[in-house]
Amino acid sequence: MTLSKKTRDDLQSLITRFSEVGKLPQGGVTRLAYTPLEDEMHRIFREEGKAHGFNVWEDSIGNSFVGNISDEKEPHTLLGSHLDSVIEGGPYDGVVGVAGGFAAMLELKRQGKKIPLVVAAFRCEESSNFQHCTVGSGLMTHALDLQGLQNVVSLEGEKLSDCLARHGYRGEVPVPEGITRYIELHIEQGRVLQENDTQIGIVTAIAAPHRYRLRLQGFSEHSGATPMNLRLDALCAASEVILAVEQIGREESVNASVATVGCIDNHPNIINSVPGMTDLRIDMRGIHTESLLSMDKALKERVDEICRRRGISYQLDCIDTMEPCHMDGTLVEQLCRAAHAEELSFRKMPSGAGHDALSFAHLYPTAMVFIPCKDGISHNIAEYTSPEQIEAGVRVLVRFLLQGEGGDKQALDQ
Ligand code: GLV
Ligand code: MN
Ligand code: MN
Repeated sequence: MTLSKKTRDDLQSLITRFSEVGKLPQGGVTRLAYTPLEDEMHRIFREEGKAHGFNVWEDSIGNSFVGNISDEKEPHTLLGSHLDSVIEGGPYDGVVGVAGGFAAMLELKRQGKKIPLVVAAFRCEESSNFQHCTVGSGLMTHALDLQGLQNVVSLEGEKLSDCLARHGYRGEVPVPEGITRYIELHIEQGRVLQENDTQIGIVTAIAAPHRYRLRLQGFSEHSGATPMNLRLDALCAASEVILAVEQIGREESVNASVATVGCIDNHPNIINSVPGMTDLRIDMRGIHTESLLSMDKALKERVDEICRRRGISYQLDCIDTMEPCHMDGTLVEQLCRAAHAEELSFRKMPSGAGHDALSFAHLYPTAMVFIPCKDGISHNIAEYTSPEQIEAGVRVLVRFLLQGEGGDKQALDQ
């Protein structure tokens, strides 16, 4: 089945329109969560929804919804993803799931098929601004609660709760009724599909993050006058910790886990003082709980050993733990069938990256469809996915939705 020319044009023009928001001179985009740029993305999404005759609403977290049903309590499939980005990110991460879900709904409307659907754009999927991921979808499904995010602040130092209030959002919603299943289309953000010359990935599990903030307290003093044997250099301790985290990730890579120090704050950060205090943020991820727990243990042991040896005091705080989640087996098989019916090559695979789907899997049957991105590059301005690759993902969604309804057998067999 090919998508109609109108749907293909609408899909590409929506993606182009989104990519103008927060566009950077060097390419790519920056659209941090709960900033005016993310607001603008949501405004565009709702505007496009209205323009195509769909119902449009927003919840009190700021998530936006476009649906072909008049009452959101009516049983429906939820499609969706996010519209915020990392700093210097690409235009496809998240956008493909929102624009692709929207295109699938448009295509079904054009084919005269009545399949109850809602497409969601969730707030704050990226951890870049608040150091917490999947905030919009997590609050919506009560996978997160606002109480637990009390001390969470943005890069500008604004509390999440104040930020929600400033937007006029209350930050809480009842668990939504009417959702029967959740499906998210997303770029793979890795190289497996490209390297295996495969058009579609059907996700089996999503890795969960275990995240820590580590404060290393040494002593800041004159870099010329302090002899080497008398120093308490927090940055040197940090550099050992960074390499230890890499080693922990390497050791657990046999279980498909990873570990990263992506963030460092060094004080006073001047050339002529020994660094007195260094903060690190550590992100460890895995699809196996035992592997995550063993990385937690190794991290605590290594930090303690490094700091004791160097006379550095430290505080290691866990700032986020999520459970890895498994996709619904029936949906996985149905999506494989849909890809097969579309004559697209496909494979089942885990997701190393986090997604809004993590917030839904504890409540509803949940699944994800991946499409390749060039050289697997994402969270980078070089991120690229071709129109044909995006359309292939939308075709899988459309075919799946037709199958799921048990509907139009002829269309399915074509
Ligand atoms: C989201 O993109 C994440 O996995 O950090
Ligand atoms: Mn991302
Ligand atoms: Mn994403």
